[in-house]
Amino acid sequence: MVVDILTLSPGFFASPLQEGMIRRGIRQGAVQVRIFNLREFSGDRHRTVDDRPFGGGAGMVLKPEPLARAIHFLERVPPGPPHLVLLTPRGRPLDQARVKGLSEKRRLTLICGRYEGVDERIGAHYCHEQISIGDYVLSGGEPAALAVLDAVVRLQPQVLGCPESKDEESYEDGLLEYPHYTRPRIFEGQAVPEVLLTGDHERVRRWRRRQALLRTWEIRPDLIREENLAPEDLKAIREFKKSRFIRSE
Ligand code: 6GU
Repeated sequence: MVVDILTLSPGFFASPLQEGMIRRGIRQGAVQVRIFNLREFSGDRHRTVDDRPFGGGAGMVLKPEPLARAIHFLERVPPGPPHLVLLTPRGRPLDQARVKGLSEKRRLTLICGRYEGVDERIGAHYCHEQISIGDYVLSGGEPAALAVLDAVVRLQPQVLGCPESKDEESYEDGLLEYPHYTRPRIFEGQAVPEVLLTGDHERVRRWRRRQALLRTWEIRPDLIREENLAPEDLKAIREFKKSRFIRSE
């Protein structure tokens, strides 16, 4: 796939593209990343890209014309029409289902917001979707673009070392991931759970699923859809609640 990033800080991406899985994806030819400087599309001598908000208030707003010019330029660059994503704290929260959808696009264009915001007419009329990476405020969309890039690159066929490891981890089944352990068997007095040493794959699988369920119930109850749970899952949650209640009394 081709990922274009439109930004006021092209230098922000220099070293991240040279590390880890993003670099591997680029080297393998699974992904091509191209960085475009929004300032190149300002259209004036002072390279202006922002202006004061109508209605007053603090901060500056990214002007629509440079963004529109950049988008029209990118639409004429091969290969084929880009899927345009505006990164903004006002966007829909990113989750793994959305990442999967983005990873299947042939061409993705990530537009990094800046200042107090982006003129609404760009998000609403020029972009296919607006995405936020969480309920907190970044000074610009660049870290969010990197998060999206990393998440889509690792889903490209052949980029991840071991193809199974994608399915088992957090969010792929809607639950947080089970806990991991490696050697030594005892670390600072804490032992690895016995079940993991038995070699009984079925028991290990059930234990992991239970751990994932209880951890999710405890710290991300919003991810749990009770109607999707098996009766034994609901029973495990009830017992977990009870045991914790007694312990805390
Ligand atoms: Cl995509 N941009 C900014 N500026 N802040 C954010 C964000 C994006 N996602 C969460 N916070």
